[in-house]
Amino acid sequence: MPAERIDGTAIAAAIRAEVAQGVAALAPRGVVPGLAVVLVGEDPASTVYVRAKEKASVEAGMAGRTIRLPATTSQPDLLAVIDGLNADPAVHGILVQMPLPNAINAQAVIARIRPDKDVDGFHPVNAGKLFIGETDGFVPCTPAGVVELLKRSGTETRGADVVVVGRSTIVGRPMAALLLRQGEGGDATVTVCHSRTRDLAAHVRRADIVVAAIGRPEAITGDMLKPGAVVIDVGINRIADPGTRTGTRLVGDVHFASAAAVAAKITPVPGGVGPMTIAMLLANTLKAAERAAGAA
Ligand code: GUN
Repeated sequence: MPAERIDGTAIAAAIRAEVAQGVAALAPRGVVPGLAVVLVGEDPASTVYVRAKEKASVEAGMAGRTIRLPATTSQPDLLAVIDGLNADPAVHGILVQMPLPNAINAQAVIARIRPDKDVDGFHPVNAGKLFIGETDGFVPCTPAGVVELLKRSGTETRGADVVVVGRSTIVGRPMAALLLRQGEGGDATVTVCHSRTRDLAAHVRRADIVVAAIGRPEAITGDMLKPGAVVIDVGINRIADPGTRTGTRLVGDVHFASAAAVAAKITPVPGGVGPMTIAMLLANTLKAAERAAGAA
């Protein structure tokens, strides 16, 4: 039987509607959640992502704004912009779009953001809280979105063997920490594989749940999966395809057709994890505003 598709677009829409309700509930207090997105330079993919984030925040009733800075911006100038946002009571969430130009130390920038406005969850304080199992920090949006997809598709993580493929700070590492947490969406037995893993297929074949976040197109194929596995594809790769109008198409880190023939459930690309990242960013921004307003 072909795999059931986990519809990230529909699940993200449900979360965005919940967030919009939360935003409306803050209105009588005179609080409008404010999200400031900082974009340095004109990386084409980042420009598209940032526009989508601003649009989604406005659609949820938030005050979304984007601060666009030239690629030549110096690190001190960028830090000064962050200081201004940190001090602005109308800004509850700050996101600096990655990657930053090479001349800027991304970790220094992330560390400058107030942890209680760090809706990306990248600040060492929030990363540390996640690592030690404290639940009052902000969790990075993409892995948080994966957990929501698992929960809302009725996928049991407790006691499950989960293989996370990829060890990035944005996805793989926080993903592992989230799946290890106690409670719903956690309690999994987690293996993290990466570019130096000796026999990737052997690990993946043992997994009840596979989270693919490697950044290599269609690297996980159906023959690597255990029949009945749940497959979450975090990858977004543009590959050449002369058969399409644009000459390219988007694929994930999973070879969809072969995986869908073996898996029980699978996320498509696009329309799986992608829409969840923005939904979780909005959820984090609402949480930041609720906390600032003393409502949570
Ligand atoms: N670049 C790619 N993904 C992300 C993300 O989740 N947050 C930020 N700030 N930059 C990114």
